[in-house]
Amino acid sequence: MCGIVGAAARREVSEILLEGLRRLEYRGYDSAGMALLDNERNLQLHKRLGKVAELESAQRMHPYLGCTGIAHTRWATHGEPSSVNAHPHIAGQRVALVHNGIIENYRELREQLQAEGYEFLSATDSEVVAHLVYRELRGGASLLQAMSAAVGLLEGSFALAAIDSEHPETVVGARRGSPLVVGVGIGENFIASDQLALRQVTDRFIYLEEGDLVQVTPSAITVLDSAGDVVERTRTRIDSAVESVDRGEFDHYMLKEIYEQPRALAATFNVGGAHSVDDAAFGADAAAVFDRVEQVQIVACGTSYHAGMVARYWLEELAGIACQVEVASEFRYRRRVQRPGSLLVTISQSGETADSLAALRDAAPGEFLASLVIANVDNSSLVRESDLIFLTRAGPEIGVASTKAFTTQLVGLLMLTIALGRRRGMAAEKIEELVTALHQLPDYVQQVLELDSAIEQLAEAFIPRHHALFLGRGIQYPIAMEGALKLKEISYIHAEAYPAGELKHGPLALVDDDMPVVAVAPGDDLLEKLKSNLEEVRSRGGELFVFADRRAGLHSEARVQVLNMPHCPEVVKPMVYTVALQLLAYHVAVQKGTDVDKPRNLAKSVTVE
Ligand code: G6P
Repeated sequence: MCGIVGAAARREVSEILLEGLRRLEYRGYDSAGMALLDNERNLQLHKRLGKVAELESAQRMHPYLGCTGIAHTRWATHGEPSSVNAHPHIAGQRVALVHNGIIENYRELREQLQAEGYEFLSATDSEVVAHLVYRELRGGASLLQAMSAAVGLLEGSFALAAIDSEHPETVVGARRGSPLVVGVGIGENFIASDQLALRQVTDRFIYLEEGDLVQVTPSAITVLDSAGDVVERTRTRIDSAVESVDRGEFDHYMLKEIYEQPRALAATFNVGGAHSVDDAAFGADAAAVFDRVEQVQIVACGTSYHAGMVARYWLEELAGIACQVEVASEFRYRRRVQRPGSLLVTISQSGETADSLAALRDAAPGEFLASLVIANVDNSSLVRESDLIFLTRAGPEIGVASTKAFTTQLVGLLMLTIALGRRRGMAAEKIEELVTALHQLPDYVQQVLELDSAIEQLAEAFIPRHHALFLGRGIQYPIAMEGALKLKEISYIHAEAYPAGELKHGPLALVDDDMPVVAVAPGDDLLEKLKSNLEEVRSRGGELFVFADRRAGLHSEARVQVLNMPHCPEVVKPMVYTVALQLLAYHVAVQKGTDVDKPRNLAKSVTVE
């Protein structure tokens, strides 16, 4: 949600900043801007409504050059998307500032500043910070002191970066509630809201802690902790081979990421030991914690929440352990009663989702035995603040609609099921069976990818439709939910998922010859029941699209299109069927001509409430 890049170098940095924004654009893309200090210390500013490409063309038409600069791609919270509301915000013709997050007390601050004569141009909460920094600078503060004083007045969550024409070669930043990293270069240093933005210039990073302030110049990095003391933070080198962020031969990141799943699933499972499931995959203390777990509480948002819903079936059915699942935005705000021995499991691709993080932070002392996060981004806030960690090995996920992160989360959750299940008497043969299925999973997913053109053909029928219904039973119900979410996110077709048994309790009223119904019918012991649900749809003129095990005995006929899926073990069907639904949504969106990787109004990482 919004992206920040900053550079202090001895070479020209406009292209570095723009490349950083391109890499972060998936986080927010309604407007973008860049401020540079030129050799004469003039502050130069480009801001454009729309995608980063608009900013690039402004820069092409009218190039601004400088060795110190900051840039931002925005996802609007306060103030509509417009070039005026785009960041950076300028104060006193000398300070430029960019902000991710929300300043909760901006109204009071704005009124105070206006009373003191400061003029506001935008409707954003962020602009107050630029004026606060400027006010301090006028009083003689250094840029770092000014940022420190400004931050002391703010309530809310933020990552900030600022430059000042009176402090050339300097970028300062602050982190509270929104991520910020320092990219360590040679004779140049950078800051960004995500290391991905800077992988083109460095592989060495400092992950700032909550409350840190930072100043970077071409030759020095100074970090102050929340108490104002200078601190040394660990430098981490990231293996660049693992994480490619190019689209390669694919038209969209989403398609590339769908196709990366066989590799990502294998890599994620291999973490756990390849031939068994090693508790240590969840952290050094995992074995001791798992011995004491009596129940599991899963908390997540969006697609990650659907992964949690799948896991509940596994944990209760296979491991015999009670499990509850809740969306984080609900969980965090209600009075809860936990039974003793409860393990809090958060699931998050980004590790930064505001509600999931708040759920972890708000857990009362003693409410949970321990916390475990299943995340895709190392060093993210959830990873840093959880007791136990399972890192999925999906690699960077750029498409806003989550794909490989979801299926790899399921691998992690199935491994958790095995780890807890063997403590509750899961038979060795059962473990063997599950481990074998996990080994075979990449092959089954590959087989689904080979159905791509058949799925592309199915997709055509959805183009003129405005609504679609997804049905599933049992563990496939959350998969139907995920299929519906994918379709609505990227094709803007209204899609809803129902447990098939609920069909006649309401949604059947909607079924007519204009309502496609997608059924996830893997051929498990619920298939017979699902078949009669499907008849209910067909007899009302509905058109059915059935994803069925090729051995399930379903055939295409009038108003029923059957896609024959690979025959595979029950336990991996949620992952295998999801891939088909991802492809369906993808092809519908492409054929409708939407912006697949950057769907309207959405953002990849929701770091504000
Ligand atoms: C946003 C994204 C979704 C994602 C959700 C949770 O809504 O657009 O794709 O599932 O956030 O994100 P997380 O990073 O916590 O998995």
